[in-house]
Amino acid sequence: MTIQSWFPTFIYCGRLQRGSPSKFNAELLKEICQVRDYDIAGQRWSKKNYPGGYTSYGSLDKLHKMSSTFADLERKISQRVGAFARKLDWDLRDRKLVMTDCWANMMPRQVSHGLHLHPLSTVSGTYYVRTPKGCPGLKFEDPRLSKFMAAPPRRPDPTRENLSHITYPAQAGSVILFESWLRHEVPANPTQAERVSISFNYNWF
Ligand code: NI
Repeated sequence: MTIQSWFPTFIYCGRLQRGSPSKFNAELLKEICQVRDYDIAGQRWSKKNYPGGYTSYGSLDKLHKMSSTFADLERKISQRVGAFARKLDWDLRDRKLVMTDCWANMMPRQVSHGLHLHPLSTVSGTYYVRTPKGCPGLKFEDPRLSKFMAAPPRRPDPTRENLSHITYPAQAGSVILFESWLRHEVPANPTQAERVSISFNYNWF
């Protein structure tokens, strides 16, 4: 008898570039702080939708069109998205995955980002700019969870294939990619320092 697992959910995680990301991240952080200070509409939007933190999601969500630093980031991420698409066996011969949205997130102490997915996108992900020691990672949920309503509970130490959640640590200089339908959240930041990341969507249609 053979039991095999099928229908996997792929998550990409890797360093964005060789060598230290410090210089690139310092430049990104400088620009993100400038954007935040200038983005009054975003500050207002964040107050309502991202309490305690700042995100440009509701106001400036095309940062890759606004500066050469972010355009550079886009170019680097797009290479990784290409590798991810190959892993998924997507036929993109007559199509192209294009970055459609790119926004910054600043998460001070106690700020969290509840469970969500990214509608109207194909691939989504996050690049980490500043990750104070002890800051939260990115927590993913098994997309089949709602189908398990009559399943027995799992043992406390299941194999990795049977985990219902997996958390990827946030590491400055790393990029995480996933299919946009995969639900995820960022638990509250318990550290004193601000966690800073850049999120993005790619689309093929
Ligand atoms: Ni998200």
